[in-house]
Amino acid sequence: MRRIVFLSLLSVAPCLAAGVILAQDAPRLRGPEPFTEEVPAPPMQRQVTDDVRVGRNYPDQPPVIPHSIEGYAMDLNANKCMSCHARKFTEQSQAPMISVTHYQDRAGNTLGGLAPRRYVCVSCHVPQTTAKPLVENVFTDMDAITEPERQPERRTR
Ligand code: HEC
Ligand code: HEC
Repeated sequence: MRRIVFLSLLSVAPCLAAGVILAQDAPRLRGPEPFTEEVPAPPMQRQVTDDVRVGRNYPDQPPVIPHSIEGYAMDLNANKCMSCHARKFTEQSQAPMISVTHYQDRAGNTLGGLAPRRYVCVSCHVPQTTAKPLVENVFTDMDAITEPERQPERRTR
């Protein structure tokens, strides 16, 4: 028993050490100033609103939002997103319809309307800004690994 405890301590120790190093090196969200100092807030980042749908990094990725969502109501009585993305409004809005999964509950039953668990769209779909990433993004698309010679030009975010 004692041996097991000792062994598990041994395996935890390097992780703890790595955690400490990472915490020191990681860029801090509030910038380089010590947290005891009050500094002016940085300007809001400009949103990307070019209306160009962004490719997905993997099939199940919630697509990012390529348009402005400023002032769009989302509360108990109103969901502005659905006024364009619901099935019955896509003809006039030319917006892509919410996917069929959004009409299903977690047991896979298809419902008559939007599933409650999908109501708050922005918990999964987010607009993009031109902000410089805090850490370098080294994500590589699966296709780029398997077929490096056949890659279309695309923006990834
Ligand atoms: C006025 C109509 C309208 C409203 C309201 C609206 N959208 Fe859109 N949305 C569009 C259109 C049209 C597109 C297609 C790309 C474009 O023209 O911007 C789109 C594209 C998208 C996409 C990209 C889909 C893809 O496959 O790439 C997402 C995600 C999205 N909207 C989410 C939302 C969310 C979340 C809200 C609410 C916060 C919202 N939209 C509100 C019209 C709308
Ligand atoms: C729990 C996370 C989640 C929520 C909440 C959510 N979505 Fe999605 N959405 C996804 C995922 C994941 C996909 C891609 C896989 C799929 O189609 O299910 C997607 C796909 C989409 C698409 C692309 C459909 C297509 O066929 O190209 C649109 C448009 C969209 N969602 C709009 C919305 C709107 C509008 C809302 C709010 C009413 C919403 N989503 C709420 C996760 C979510």
